[in-house]
Amino acid sequence: MTASSTSTRRSIVRGCGSYLPPRVLTNAELETMVETSDPWIVQRTGIRERHIAAADETTSVLGLKAAQAALADAGLEAGDIDLIVCATSTPDYTFPATATQIQMGLGLQGGAAFDLQAVCTGFIYGVATADKFLLSGSHRRALVVGAETFSRIVDWTDRGTCVLFGDGAGAIVLEAGEGDGKASDRGVLTTQLRSDGRYRDRLYVDGGPGSTGTTGHLRMEGRDVFKFAVGKVVDVVREAFAETGLGPEDLDWFVPHQANRRIIEASADKLGIPREKVVITVEGHGNTSAASIPLALDVARKDGRIKQGDLVMLEAIGGGFTWGSALIRW
Ligand code: UT7
Repeated sequence: MTASSTSTRRSIVRGCGSYLPPRVLTNAELETMVETSDPWIVQRTGIRERHIAAADETTSVLGLKAAQAALADAGLEAGDIDLIVCATSTPDYTFPATATQIQMGLGLQGGAAFDLQAVCTGFIYGVATADKFLLSGSHRRALVVGAETFSRIVDWTDRGTCVLFGDGAGAIVLEAGEGDGKASDRGVLTTQLRSDGRYRDRLYVDGGPGSTGTTGHLRMEGRDVFKFAVGKVVDVVREAFAETGLGPEDLDWFVPHQANRRIIEASADKLGIPREKVVITVEGHGNTSAASIPLALDVARKDGRIKQGDLVMLEAIGGGFTWGSALIRW
């Protein structure tokens, strides 16, 4: 969906925030845990360090801190929020939803709060979902949170995956506002969501409440994911451009899912997006799944790169496979 010329309602970004747990795990420390090396990790992925949540820092704890930072950035009170969508694949518990624990932490009893699971594409799915709620008129202000503790599901003996992932959270506040239905409007201009369950075995967790009764560990065929990733994210970015009549030349910032510097750069090159417009933060936090895009947004917002009125393209791919893009005028 849509940059409809008849709709004047738009979901406008009011603020963003993020949180990384203080404990840093460097590539050098990983060298003492598995057969790997700092040069291999940096050359293949661009990752230098990742953050690891302490035992009492559950996903909702990280998500709450990011949500509070986003509210402060927006100049809003918790009571101004009537919808919380938390994208996560590492919930505190099977239920209740992590979003309800964030809601409680914010001191809120009203509105709606739920989790959404699309793995690394979770934040894009969350933005799309919140956007549709706001466009419908049923809700006014949404917190979209991406929060993960992938350190809990990584197999720390598998060098092919454990060097890639980290913990963290990010959030944005979306507010229902008005536009004139044109691509020059501020707000979410289009979201493109895709999924294809035939690829389950390329990237999955080998446990769950309905199958093994365990939490399980992340398993990935990295090379297959890499190949699929570049092709598919390029497709959904092009579809977002086609939908809105915009193109790479109109873009101020490309803020992709932060999984691997090589995937990001290959995608940007294929799309004709110059490297200086690409926001890359993967070196400092690794792949934080649904949290990686809002973490990157927050960095680029706070360091002055993303400014009001800038055109920002988000894209991601994750387990399922799921993939998608969101084009936002900030
Ligand atoms: O969030 C979305 C999901 N995830 C992704 O986007 C990840 C997608 N995939 C990737 O980022 C890359 O495929 C990896 C970074 C996982 C791997 O890079 P690659 O260039 O595809 O390497 P590879 O899997 O082809 O492995 C090359 C070699 C292998 O050795 P042989 O078979 O050539 O002897 C691996 O065993 O590198 C070896 N290797 C390692 N060596 C040192 C794999 N992991 C490591 C490691 N340290 N950590």
